[in-house]
Amino acid sequence: MCGIVAYIGHKEAYPILIKGLQRLEYRGYDSAGVALLNEKINLFKTKGKVSELVSHTAHKDTQGTIGIAHTRWATHGEPNSTNAHPHFSESENIAIIHNGIIENYESIREFLLQKGYKFRSETDTEVLVQLIEDVKKEGNYSLFESVRIALNQVVGAYAIAVISTDEPDKVVVARKGSPLVVGIGSEGDFYVASDAAPIVEYTKSVYYLDDEDIACLKANEKLHLKTIKNEVKDPLTEELDLNIDALEKGGFEHFMLKEIHEQPDSILDSMRGRISAKDNTVKLGGVEDYEKHILDAHRIIMVACGTSWHAGLVGEYLFEELARIPVEVEYGSEFRYRNPIITNDDVVIAISQSGETADTLAAIDLAKRKGALLLGICNVVGSSIARATHAGVYTHAGPEIGVASTKAFTAQVTVLTLIALRLGFLKKTIEEPVYHSLIKELEDIPNKVEEVLKTEKLIKEIAAKFKDARNFLYLGRGINFPVALEGALKLKEISYIHAEGYPAAEMKHGPIALIDENMPIVVIATKEGNYEKIVSNIQEIKARKGAVIAVVSKGDTTVAAMADYVIEIPKTEELLVPLLATIPLQLLSYHIAVMRGCNVDMPRNLAKSVTVE
Ligand code: F6R
Repeated sequence: MCGIVAYIGHKEAYPILIKGLQRLEYRGYDSAGVALLNEKINLFKTKGKVSELVSHTAHKDTQGTIGIAHTRWATHGEPNSTNAHPHFSESENIAIIHNGIIENYESIREFLLQKGYKFRSETDTEVLVQLIEDVKKEGNYSLFESVRIALNQVVGAYAIAVISTDEPDKVVVARKGSPLVVGIGSEGDFYVASDAAPIVEYTKSVYYLDDEDIACLKANEKLHLKTIKNEVKDPLTEELDLNIDALEKGGFEHFMLKEIHEQPDSILDSMRGRISAKDNTVKLGGVEDYEKHILDAHRIIMVACGTSWHAGLVGEYLFEELARIPVEVEYGSEFRYRNPIITNDDVVIAISQSGETADTLAAIDLAKRKGALLLGICNVVGSSIARATHAGVYTHAGPEIGVASTKAFTAQVTVLTLIALRLGFLKKTIEEPVYHSLIKELEDIPNKVEEVLKTEKLIKEIAAKFKDARNFLYLGRGINFPVALEGALKLKEISYIHAEGYPAAEMKHGPIALIDENMPIVVIATKEGNYEKIVSNIQEIKARKGAVIAVVSKGDTTVAAMADYVIEIPKTEELLVPLLATIPLQLLSYHIAVMRGCNVDMPRNLAKSVTVE
């Protein structure tokens, strides 16, 4: 779970690499490094963020038109400058950057130690670069061949870029299990990165490496591509559909705030061309050919992690309510380790913003081996999960850069609503007027989100009041229970305040013991759903002096009379409430975190895509 960038061409590599790392910093930010290839390799690395690398390299020789760079999220070895990438081989003739994990690194390290190799770091990556050097020495192979042969001895995941002083006009790149994109520049140059963000301002023509692809990049020559099994391949390039503005903060203080405010558009984009109230239709081109298969499914299993798992829980409610298909929602990380019963009558839906989450990927691999049909709901086009599934529906929320997921969640819920509506329509499990009013209301959701965003000033005041709380409870019922979970996760991850999400009625089975005057409790108490029940739950809280922050339907007076703070959201259909109720909770977490001085876009210990187990 790191970001890697490489460049080879006629321009100065250093500024391109640093800018690229800054664009990828959301993938990891505990150390960073860069290596530039001239007659020798100049290598610089530091603990900390890319800005620290920039300070470290000031006044140093960073010239060169070939280079590799890395921003790290530590797996093997603590985050310090020794363990930072790039890593040298023993002779310092070869340097490597790596995203992934070499699982059999201990046995390879043992083998190399016996041959007299010495290691500077605790990383699995250094083992790989030493192995490449060993293969090169033993067989007198080219760099490309040495990397290829070495990769055949490796178990695990990798996206790598390798340079060598012996062949100072090449960069060798390869991938398996971790993403890697090569941008083909118009001046005979190549841009390499973990995703397209560092590439898009230079070129839109890209090749996404497949698993076990290995490529040799040389300025002014065509991309030379093989598999690590030595089969020659033709690189099929694609045109990037990405706008550079989407990668900038656009006047907002943080990416997270920008992304929260983008939700009227991102929700609209996730529905665009797929829904029409005028024609009374929902159409999903990506899964059209599989609709019969889905309708015949015994059950649907949604696999995901974190926020995407919460979207899956909303999806369960939607699918069961609208299409009457049984749904199970699984954590990718648990599912893969418990020998689940899956047959070819099952449909597995993987939900992932990044499309790179290792646990979700492993879960769908398992389901594929057991014969299930796999569908993906991913945000990143061309990502590993999007490619590993049989079909899918992209969320089209645009790049999400803040580590805390916001607009991706509402886009996932929108797409799940569309699928549930489509299946319900085909299965005739939704009555025509309900179907029509849901479509109509869904089309209006972006306007209503716009309205919810206007509550930000009030939310800031609430944030100021509760920013020093040590614990929070979030309560919701029915389809709003996952919203409570999501609200609690947002607060935990960016403000480091302990928070728990609970189904409101479960409170009396334990968590009620926590409630006193120091406990803020966020309750989703909209008119739609189990309103009377939620009102009783609020009374139970107030009887114990808890401070209630209630998200209510516009015009509500009952809850307003009981709660300490109320945030009004527009009325909507019960099934669509999560699309509105989530937004105040995102804003509350954001403002609390800012007031506590936390790094909102890069919370400690986290990274945007978790590509390790
Ligand atoms: C929370 C968050 C994480 C991700 C999780 C899954 O704000 O960002 O919990 O939701 O790591 O990531 P994706 O959706 O990329 O598979």
